[in-house]
Amino acid sequence: MEPKTVNSEPNHRDDPYPDKAAFFDAQVEADWAMQAYGTAEAEKLERLLTVTGPLTGLRLLEPGCGTGRLTEVLAEGVGFHGRVVAMDISPGMVAAARSRLFRFANVDLRLGAVEALSDRLGIFDLVICHQVFPHFADRVGALEILARMLKPGGRLVISHFIPLAEINDVHRKAGTAVANDLMPPGETMRRWCGAYGLAVEHWHDDALGYLLAATLKWP
Ligand SMILES: C[S@@+](CC[C@H](N)C(=O)[O-])C[C@H]1O[C@@H](n2cnc3c(N)ncnc32)[C@H](O)[C@@H]1O
Repeated sequence: MEPKTVNSEPNHRDDPYPDKAAFFDAQVEADWAMQAYGTAEAEKLERLLTVTGPLTGLRLLEPGCGTGRLTEVLAEGVGFHGRVVAMDISPGMVAAARSRLFRFANVDLRLGAVEALSDRLGIFDLVICHQVFPHFADRVGALEILARMLKPGGRLVISHFIPLAEINDVHRKAGTAVANDLMPPGETMRRWCGAYGLAVEHWHDDALGYLLAATLKWP
C-alpha cells in the first residue's frame, strides 16, 4: 500500500539534524536514558504491562531500545522460551544496552534503524515502541514496516511515560535534533494504523503518559 494515500503530511520530513544517532550517542549518560525504572515509573509500567498482556513465551520486537531500561523488563517477561529483538540507531545506546543486558540469553541486540528492518528477522507477536515513535524519520513508513513484522493478530504498542502535549513540548523546546519529532494527534494515529490493518484498541493520553495499542487484523 502506498503511504501517500493515508498521510496528508510529507512522508519524509526534511530533517535539519540528519545525524540523530550522534545526538542520542551524546545522551547515553543522561539520567533519562540510563536510570533503571523505579517507584516513580511503577504505575506507568504496570499500565503498560496490563495493556500488553502476559509476555511469557512471546517473540517481541523493540525498536529504539536505548540503554535497555524497558528491554530488561521485557526480557524478564518473555522468559526462557521467548525472545526480545531490541534495536537502536545509536551505537552508544546499543553498547550501554549490551552491558545492562549481558545476563539475558533471550535478548538479541542490534544496531539499526526501524526503517531498515529486514523481513529476514521473521515475524513477531508484539512490537513495542517505547518513547521512540516521534523520532522515526518516516513515521507512516515505520508503521507500514512494523505491521509487516507482526503475525496476524499480533500487536503494536506505542508508549511514552509522559502525555502527548508534554512529549511535543519537550521535543520542540529542546531545539536540537529532536525538535521536529512530534507525536501526531490520536485521530491521525488511528488513520495511519488503520491503513495497515492495525485496529487501535487502547488509546490513553493522561497523567500516566501516552499509550496506544493496536492489533493486526489482516496480513
Ligand atoms: C528517547 S530514546 C528512548 C530510549 C528507550 N526506549 C527508553 O525509553 O529509555 C529514543 C531512542 O530511539 C532511538 N532511535 C531514534 N530513531 C530511531 C530509528 N529510526 N530506529 C531505531 N531507533 C531509533 C534513539 O537512538 C534513542 O536511543
